[in-house]
Amino acid sequence: MILQFLLSALFLITGISADESPDITVIVRGSDLLAEVDDSFVCATLDWWPPEKCNYNQCPWGQASVLNLSTGLFGFSQGCLSLARWDELNLLFEKGGAIITFGLNALNGRDSLDNGMWVGNWNSTNSREFIEYTISKGYQVDSWEFGNELSGRGVGARVSAEQYAQDVIELKALLKELYRDSHTKPILVAPGGFFDQQWYAQLLQDSGLGVVDALTHHVYNLGGGDDSHIESKILNPWYLSQTATDKFRNLQLTIERHGPWSRAWVGEAGGAYNSGNRQTKTGLMKLSALLWHRLMGKGVLSIDMSGSSYLRAYALCAKRKSGITLLLINLSTSIKFSVTVRNDLNVLLAEGGGIQWGNAFIRTLKRTVSWIGRKASDESVHREEYHLTGADGNCLSQTVLLNGNPLELVDGEIPQLVPVYAPANSPVKVDPLSIAFVVFPNFEAQACSS
Ligand SMILES: *[C@@H]1O[C@H](CO)[C@@H](O)[C@H](O)[C@H]1NC(C)=O
Ligand SMILES: *[C@@H]1O[C@H](CO)[C@@H](O)[C@H](O)[C@H]1NC(C)=O
Ligand SMILES: *[C@@H]1O[C@H](CO)[C@@H](O)[C@H](O)[C@H]1NC(C)=O
Repeated sequence: MILQFLLSALFLITGISADESPDITVIVRGSDLLAEVDDSFVCATLDWWPPEKCNYNQCPWGQASVLNLSTGLFGFSQGCLSLARWDELNLLFEKGGAIITFGLNALNGRDSLDNGMWVGNWNSTNSREFIEYTISKGYQVDSWEFGNELSGRGVGARVSAEQYAQDVIELKALLKELYRDSHTKPILVAPGGFFDQQWYAQLLQDSGLGVVDALTHHVYNLGGGDDSHIESKILNPWYLSQTATDKFRNLQLTIERHGPWSRAWVGEAGGAYNSGNRQTKTGLMKLSALLWHRLMGKGVLSIDMSGSSYLRAYALCAKRKSGITLLLINLSTSIKFSVTVRNDLNVLLAEGGGIQWGNAFIRTLKRTVSWIGRKASDESVHREEYHLTGADGNCLSQTVLLNGNPLELVDGEIPQLVPVYAPANSPVKVDPLSIAFVVFPNFEAQACSS
């Protein structure tokens, strides 16, 4: 199983200033809701690859595949999901309370040309039978995804957008028919490929109103898994920002213009392609995904930040309680920072409404005000901190420390994730190359209560 932490999708809210300063002030605008994320904002993908799938002299998949393929001598192409295996998987999904998106083979029935193009109509027979079986067993599928990496120039295979549009129309009709008596109505997501503006626009336009409910695309902005510079890329704030933002903006525009009924999803992400890079599937990523689920609500808050590009900050409403959760990522190996968190409510009060978000102002502010909530009693309030680091100071380690203690499965179960407490108004210290989730239970954020 590869856990895909959608860090790159968080492009929305990072504040980066040109000059680097060790004193960081994060001002959270508690009344300014920037966006809402889905409950399933961070997800995991179960892939098909067998133990024999290797890239760059590594074979990272082991027994992690969704099916234990009985491969022939070389091919993985023989792999079939047996109904018995599907039953087993659904038992697992049910136990874990998983929300399932299942990807259907969109090449079935087509013919391939020499140039990688696949032509002809999709044959839906096998998908129909599979979905019928799924419904008959009462297995819950939240969304059916059509195809994998066939858009634009494709990866190994591609299909034209016009043809794809015809096929998603057929799949939509199929879902409507098969789920007509069902109280759940799974959505259709497509195409799960690399973003190509023209291809995506055409797909939306030709398939038409309400057919593609979510437009999925894959983000592997770190390039190939054999890149020896991968560590420096992961830690380079400019690289991380630059590679994602243009694409997300274009995707958003494409949806607005050609299919406003559709939502934008990142179907796969998390770093490097071709089985990723073992360095990008670290313990840190897995635990971050888990903590995200436990601590992050849906509302994304706007922040203002001054200081260093090497500290990334994201503020969301806390999950199922009042207050906010701040995610801080320290990409630095050397800069000494200290992070002060403020509520813009107080900034407004303190400055009589005349705000200036420049550095000079923020520096004076730091000396003059120091509270999170509005009430004097808030001074005594504590925040919860979850600091994640790699073992032995190695952020790429598989072993992860939570607040300094190694986190290990206990009888196959995830141990309790225990925070440390600190006075809410003291500066937050985030270790080099580490990730911190910080919950401010008393932070007044209007946008979170409405
Ligand atoms: C997966 O396949 C391997 C051999 O490739 C086998 O040893 C193992 O028992 C299989 N596991 C499951 C769960 O089928
Ligand atoms: C689709 O596939 C099924 C089963 O694999 C086959 O029986 C059927 O003839 C195919 N349909 C078309 C239109 O090729
Ligand atoms: C980030 O790591 C650097 C490197 O050691 C450290 O000096 C700095 O204090 C850390 N930043 C924060 C916000 O704690």
